[in-house]
Amino acid sequence: MQTKSTNPVFCAIDTPDTKRACALAESLSGAVGGLKIGLEYFNAHGQDGYQKLAAFDQPIFLDLKLHDIPNTVASAVRALAPLQPAWLNVHAGGGAAMMQAAAEAAHEAHDKGLRVPKMLGVTIMTSLADTDLHQMGISGTAQDQVLRLANLAQKNGMDGVVCSAHEIQVLRAELGPDFKLIVPGIRPQGSAAQDQKRVMTPEDAQKAGADILVIGRPITGAEDPRQAALDIAAQLTA
Ligand code: C5P
Repeated sequence: MQTKSTNPVFCAIDTPDTKRACALAESLSGAVGGLKIGLEYFNAHGQDGYQKLAAFDQPIFLDLKLHDIPNTVASAVRALAPLQPAWLNVHAGGGAAMMQAAAEAAHEAHDKGLRVPKMLGVTIMTSLADTDLHQMGISGTAQDQVLRLANLAQKNGMDGVVCSAHEIQVLRAELGPDFKLIVPGIRPQGSAAQDQKRVMTPEDAQKAGADILVIGRPITGAEDPRQAALDIAAQLTA
C-alpha cells in the first residue's frame, strides 16, 4: 500500500459542486497523492473555491492550461501565485516566449516568500488522436507533435509536461530522468475510456515511467471513491 507521499495518483476533482468537491477531497485523504483542480471547478468557484480544497492539505495541481500572449499568461501566473499550488500548467502550443514568461513569473513567487509552483507544458490532449490532429492541419502523428512540444517546453523553463501514457517511453529517453511526466488518460482494467482516446492502465503507465497519474472519473464516478483510489494504489509500487 502506498503512503500519501509516494502515491503518484492525483485525483481530478471535476465538478462545479463545492460540497461534492470537498466531500471527495475529504474522503480521498491518504488514498491519493494529491488533487487536481481544473477548469470546471475553478471557473465555478475561483480562488475561494480553491482555498476550500487546499484546506484538506493535499498537494494540488492547478490545471488551468493557460494559453494566451506571453504578457497575459505571465500576469495570470502572478495572480495565481498566492494560492501556492504544487503544480501549474500552460499549453506548450502557446510557444517558447509564452512558456519562458510563465516560468519567470512563477519564479518571482520565491522573492515574495511563496512556494514556486512546478511548471508544466500541456502537449496534446489525451482526448485527441492522429485523425483529430490531421483535421487541424498537423500532418504527423500525435507522438511526433508531443515530442516536438515537449522539447520546446524543456528548453523554455518548464519542469515537465502533461502527455499520454503512450508517449512516456519516448519522452523519457529524449528528455532525461528529471523532466516530470504527468499522465492523464489513465483507465484501470475494465473501466470505460469515455472521451479519452490514448489510455493506459495505472500499473502500465507507472512501469513506463510516469511521475504522476491523473485519474478522474474512474475514482470520482465510483460508488465508493475512496475504495476505488485504494484499489488503484494497491496495484502500484511505492
Ligand atoms: O476523468 P478523467 O480520468 O478522464 O480525467 C482526466 C483529467 O485530466 C481531466 O481533468 C482532464 O481535464 C485532464 N487532462 C486530460 N488530458 C490532458 C490534460 C489534462 O485529460 N492532456
